[in-house]
Parts: sequence; C-alpha cells; structure tokens
Amino acid sequence: MALAGLENKELNLIIFGGKGGVGKTSCAIATALALSHNYKTLLISTDPAHSVSDCLEQQIGFKVTEINGTTNLSAIEVVADEALLVFINEHKKELKKLLDTSTNLDDDDVDEMLTLSIPGIDEVMSFKTIIDFIEKGEYDKYVVDTAPTGHALRLISSPKLLDEWIKVAARMRWKYRYMLTSFSGSYQQDDVDAFLFSLKKTVKRIENILRDNTKSEFIPVCIPEAMAINETGRLLADLAKSGIIAQQIIVNNVMSSDGCSFCKSRMAGQLPYLQQIHETFSTFNTVEIPVFPEEIKGLKALNKLKSFLFEKENSEPEKPKTILL
Ligand SMILES: Nc1ncnc2c1ncn2[C@@H]1O[C@H](COP(=O)(O)OP(=O)(O)OP(=O)(O)O)[C@@H](O)[C@H]1O
Ligand SMILES: [Mg+2]
Repeated sequence: MALAGLENKELNLIIFGGKGGVGKTSCAIATALALSHNYKTLLISTDPAHSVSDCLEQQIGFKVTEINGTTNLSAIEVVADEALLVFINEHKKELKKLLDTSTNLDDDDVDEMLTLSIPGIDEVMSFKTIIDFIEKGEYDKYVVDTAPTGHALRLISSPKLLDEWIKVAARMRWKYRYMLTSFSGSYQQDDVDAFLFSLKKTVKRIENILRDNTKSEFIPVCIPEAMAINETGRLLADLAKSGIIAQQIIVNNVMSSDGCSFCKSRMAGQLPYLQQIHETFSTFNTVEIPVFPEEIKGLKALNKLKSFLFEKENSEPEKPKTILL
C-alpha cells in the first residue's frame, strides 16, 4: 500500500512520530517532497537534534529556507529557546504587568522570572510556532518531523499544558480584579486580559486542528521489531486519549531481498513481527518500506523513498511466505 489522502486539499498538518531511529525524519522529508509537487509545502523540524539539515545535506536552522533542487519546498528547524525569546519579547509588556499585578515580586524579580525555564515550555513554543505558521497561511501543507515518541506526545499535549498555565494566570488575575473592584467599584479589562484571551483562543485553535482528521494527520513510523511495535501501540493509545485518531502506519526497514544468508535470516526474523503488525494494526493502512542498501541522505535517496511511500506499484516489498534457511 501507499500513503493515502495526504493530497486532500483541506489536510494542512501532517505530523510524523515514533520510536528513536525508525525513519521519522526520512519519511517526513520524503512526504514533504512528494506534496511539494502540487502544494506549497513547509517542512518543520521540532526535534532539538535537527537531522533535517543532515538528511537534506543543506544547512537550515531557525529560519525558513528554500530547499535546493525543489520548487515549492521550504524547511525550518525550530529552536524552542529562540522561539520562547521571541514570544517573551513580543509580549514583555503584558507578561510583566501580569506578574506585577498578581504577585509581590519587584521589577528585578519579574525580569528574572521571565528568564526561568518552565517545564514543557519547549514543546509549547514549538507547537505555537507551527500554529503561527498555519495561521499566516503562506503554505498549503505543513509537514512536521518530531523527536522520539515522548516528545511527539508532549508536543500534542502542549495545548493542554498551555491551557493550564492560562488558568493559573487567570486565577492570579482574579485576585487583582477582586481587589480593584473592591476599592474602585469597577474593573475595566486591560491588555493582560486581552493577551490571556488571545492565548486561550490559540489553544482552542490548536485543539480544533489536531482533533479534526480532515485538517491534520499523525503518521506513526514503526519497524518490524518488538520494542518498536509495542511503542507504536502505546503511541496510538496515547494519541487516541488526546482525541487524535491515526489512520495509517509506515513500517520501515522491511527486508525485501533474500539473496544472501544474512538477508534470509533477517527476513525470517522480521516475518513474525510483520504478521504481528498486520494483526495488531489491521484497521490501519500500513505502508511497508524496504530497507535500502544505502542511508537516506540527499535528494536522490529521498526521492527514492518518496516513490516507495506514494507509488502503489513500488510500495509493496515482496513478502516472503516461507523462508528457506
Ligand atoms: N528504509 C531505510 N533504508 C535504509 N536506511 C534507512 C531507511 N530508513 C531510514 N534509514 C536510515 O536510518 C537512520 C535513521 O533514520 P531517520 O533519521 O529518518 O530516523 P528518525 O526516526 O528520524 O531518528 P531519530 O529518532 O534519531 O530522529 C538514518 O541514517 C537513515 O538514513
Ligand atoms: Mg529524526
């Protein structure tokens, strides 16, 4: 089978996730390449290790960069610390006022507080960067490469975390509002309220996009090995808890040649795991990708992977029925 439905016009956001080293980055880039034939596409790496530059053999970094040798494809590697600095600088006035009116901190404490790292802030900032891009609407498709499983899940749950922070901030404000109303008899909404309100709207928008499978899709990447299969099962269950229902799975590194005794033995070793994948994930569109003799680096190799991901006739590696060792 091949990946299906990604060309649908309404589908904007495609996120790749899975265990470490299973081929997320390679598949995300190959998918972005495929989509860029018909759609203006932005590839976004949220993995702090940023292997997109290595894989594309082109330096990218935290700025939108056109990919050499393509016409409609750009990429960016999100640096969460930098995204946070941009956010703080953009909203310094409101953030300072929020802390100033809701705590007993003096000016220096407030400045120090704004430099403190907050748990989960990296994923929140990465996700906010993605949503900001989607809202600007300069591209038709946004393809996201994530770091191994835990990171993707934290990324997905970042709207919830942001929502919790907003609630805490709103409670802090409530006391201030109560005092002001008690002393002056009335309370006028100010720029901090407007800021919190706009953050809340961002959270809602993120949740709406993630839970709408016509607008976004999460594609787990797996390999035919026990740990990867178990991790994929847990990932799918955790995604479902967040209201995200995946529909297709990439099974990478499938042995497709039994030409030598090493290959025969690898193929035989993978067979029960492939059967397990087909049974466990029987309702999913599973897309099998053969293991290539070379690493996937540069446009030529990525285009080869692209053809296996998207062209039905290429994408079914021969499946051994019996293996003679
Ligand atoms: N089908 C394949 N055949 C051969 N090599 C592959 C295949 N898929 C991926 N690779 C190679 O395996 C390595 C890991 O792939 P990739 O970086 O895409 O995985 P990842 O899941 O993004 O890893 P990480 O969790 O570290 O981000 C790379 O060297 C890549 O070139
Ligand atoms: Mg990667």
